[in-house]
Amino acid sequence: MSDVPTINIGLCGFGTVGQGVWKHLTANRAELEARVGVKLNLARVAVRDARKRRTVKIPRRCLTEDPLAIATDPSIQIVCELMGGTTLARRVTLAALRQGKIVVSANKALICEHGPEIIAAAQKHGGHFFFEASVAGGIPIIKVLREGLVANRFPRIYGILNGTCNYILTQMDEQEAPYAGVLAEAKRLGYAEADESLDVDGWDTAHKACVLAWLAHGAWVRTDQMIVEGISRISPADFKNAATLGFGIKLLAIITRDFAKNELCVRVHPTLLPGANVIAKVNGVFNAISVTGDVVGTTLYSGRGAGQDATASAVISDIADAAALLKHGKGAHLIGEATTMVPRTCRLAPPESIRCRYYLRLTVKDQPGVLARVASVMAKHRVSIASVLQGPADRPDAASLVLTTHESNERAMQGTLRQLKNLASMLEEPLLLRIGDFD
Ligand code: NAP
Ligand code: HSE
Repeated sequence: MSDVPTINIGLCGFGTVGQGVWKHLTANRAELEARVGVKLNLARVAVRDARKRRTVKIPRRCLTEDPLAIATDPSIQIVCELMGGTTLARRVTLAALRQGKIVVSANKALICEHGPEIIAAAQKHGGHFFFEASVAGGIPIIKVLREGLVANRFPRIYGILNGTCNYILTQMDEQEAPYAGVLAEAKRLGYAEADESLDVDGWDTAHKACVLAWLAHGAWVRTDQMIVEGISRISPADFKNAATLGFGIKLLAIITRDFAKNELCVRVHPTLLPGANVIAKVNGVFNAISVTGDVVGTTLYSGRGAGQDATASAVISDIADAAALLKHGKGAHLIGEATTMVPRTCRLAPPESIRCRYYLRLTVKDQPGVLARVASVMAKHRVSIASVLQGPADRPDAASLVLTTHESNERAMQGTLRQLKNLASMLEEPLLLRIGDFD
């Protein structure tokens, strides 16, 4: 088979994801090469510290500490950026694209912050940018939006997009495990970002929501244009309260488009999901995404959202697409390419367009009249109370008040929250969670 072309691949980054790509591509090489019709040669690998001991052993001659050397190496056709961060990763990505190479990326932060520049560089220099691993780990959600559901417009996409947070929330709920210990375990398992605040404060989910919103709506929404709230204030008591009320708690990205008003809303926050919603039962490192298309209706996708193997699966799928593109020429794969996206315009929805029920947990002085004062603040903002649970708080002379509301809007709830914080009887920062009534 001497006429089978060889494609040289460079890996920039050989941590959790990079080593997974090497391991699985090597293990499944024969089958993969037979499927794609090319030889796949893992030629070079860049790391920060070439002397570091690694689980996956590779020839020393492949290693460099200069990822830009791989990006500009004329013999490398596919550059996989698997380092993370947005500074060197941006330089490496742009350098490779400017040479007309194909870049495969798992870096959602980079796409969110520099997506337009990267896509423009690919278009200008004839390069290509593939990023299946950037959202939802092993779930091929990028292909779903670009290819499988290309006939659709998308009024709603929502789901769990961060494996670390879902793992932490599940362990807290099922084992009542302390937050810090579960986070350390998520790091050990290779789920968390190098900077774990990206996960737990909601930013990683926001980066992924940005990528999905762009694919679905052609609009780049910055994270400072979204509501972004993380999971660090959720306590074991919230899981108990939510269960009493018939809900689970998940960190969700929610992307909604009102086509009549041409308004787009992208938000990330912990959400109470009714127990009957399938996504409420998706646990551990798994992600799940509900995509509603105007033609297809609602579709649902689930799978491992983080970790070495799931992410390697997505990166290798992009490598296979890239190899096929190199072998068969540009035309064959146009539908799978970011460079075909035409920017569209839509307005960002105002806060009052967010209408939902809310969950409010207050730690208050255990004194007469406190509940009445809380109710009066809510009434002033025209927020209607649906239920009240009262129980002991974990400090003396205090009570925990858990209220749910009838449907209200974000502006009214934020006004309520501001005023509640100032009550003399309020002992801790109130916790406000939104309830996700998705049908
Ligand atoms: P990681 O384990 O921290 O690995 C990062 C790799 O990049 C390491 O090999 C590191 O070298 C190398 N690197 C960092 N800075 C470098 C520099 N200045 N020069 C050369 N090499 C450098 O990270 P990861 O978990 O594999 O994640 C990589 C990317 O994939 C990130 O964008 C992440 O968001 C994304 N991602 C991760 C997952 C996941 O589950 N882990 C899932 C989807 C997407 P050393 O090894 O020498 O330190
Ligand atoms: N830290 C990310 C997560 C990795 O936990 O989902 C996958 O993108």
